[in-house]
Amino acid sequence: MTDEHEITPWDVSDTFQEAQYERVATEFGAKIIDDHLKDEIRDLAGEVHRFIQYGIFFAHRDLDQLLDGYRKGRKFYLYTGRGPSGKMHLGHLIPFMFTKWLQERFDVDLIIQITDDEKYIFRDTSQEELEKYTRSNILDILSLGFKPEKTHILVDSKNSGLLYNYGIKVAKHITASTVKSVFGLKDSDNIGKFFFTSIQSVPAFIVSAITGHNVPCLIPYAIDQDPHFKISRDILPKLGYEKPASIISKFIPSLKGSGKMSSSDESSGIYLDDDSKTIKRKLMKYAFSGGRDTMEEQRRLGANPDVDFAFNTYRMLEPDMAKASKIYEEYRSGQILSGEMKMIAYEKITGFFETLNSRRDTVMKNMDDYMFNPDRFR
Ligand code: TRP
Repeated sequence: MTDEHEITPWDVSDTFQEAQYERVATEFGAKIIDDHLKDEIRDLAGEVHRFIQYGIFFAHRDLDQLLDGYRKGRKFYLYTGRGPSGKMHLGHLIPFMFTKWLQERFDVDLIIQITDDEKYIFRDTSQEELEKYTRSNILDILSLGFKPEKTHILVDSKNSGLLYNYGIKVAKHITASTVKSVFGLKDSDNIGKFFFTSIQSVPAFIVSAITGHNVPCLIPYAIDQDPHFKISRDILPKLGYEKPASIISKFIPSLKGSGKMSSSDESSGIYLDDDSKTIKRKLMKYAFSGGRDTMEEQRRLGANPDVDFAFNTYRMLEPDMAKASKIYEEYRSGQILSGEMKMIAYEKITGFFETLNSRRDTVMKNMDDYMFNPDRFR
């Protein structure tokens, strides 16, 4: 299978180009979110989230069908996740911000799988270290303000019995050659990697399995996760469950401009625990700018906001799209200078972080309320 694809979604890396997203997604079998689907979303959700408008969430699998069902009264649930590997940065929160919007607009349950086993298998990180990040990552995610009654954090290591028993049902239908071609694994890779995708499939049918009737599932994820769910969609019908639907995002470019933000390079992103001084320094020192070299040139020729980290980050955090497009114009036409753009982004980011921080104590106190418990679905 890999032979037919020059690049698979799994290979999305630092060198991945904006122009390749649509091709890779559609070649792999996803569809681009078109105007018709946007109208459908607007109709049901009351608005089209800016991440869709800006093309960050740009593709889907069977979202049209899922919404059709919803319109007829079939509630779905949401499933997304995070594999702790280090501290979280702004880019990591994007899918969760979007998922929160979906949860609120459609008033549905949400399962967040925390795959604290994943990076142990796939990377060279100790279990002790991962445990530390697991807790802080969960806190970071929950500080976005998810509703406790409808949010279910499913930590792999804490729910291993449940996940294993359902996971083997999936595993039984997946061959080594499928996993090899979809994820590019080799015979020399450890067998944990071969099995892992079975575990990531489970939350896509767990509500149906617990309740005994089929509940549709919608999974928001970044494009590198698509191979997992392409496999889930093949297997789940064989187990009597529906194929999960999905909504797929691009990666947020790193501070330095190209590729995704990486957890291993401090200067590649703005971390959730960066203080305002650090944020300002990182923006001024590293942020890839679409501005010109000199002030005179910038005034005369204007900037290219599309590639500008500060502008894009500001736009992501600005719910008022009219306001953001005004800034876009002013920056593009040279009225706003790069340094000023960075300060606009700075204000937005620090304001956002303050909101997150203000929720942390409450979230920490009530952490247990969010934890996955099958009885909450019965
Ligand atoms: N594999 C994902 C990661 O590396 C974590 C994850 C598990 C996930 N289940 C998911 C992501 C569902 C999106 C949707 O972070």
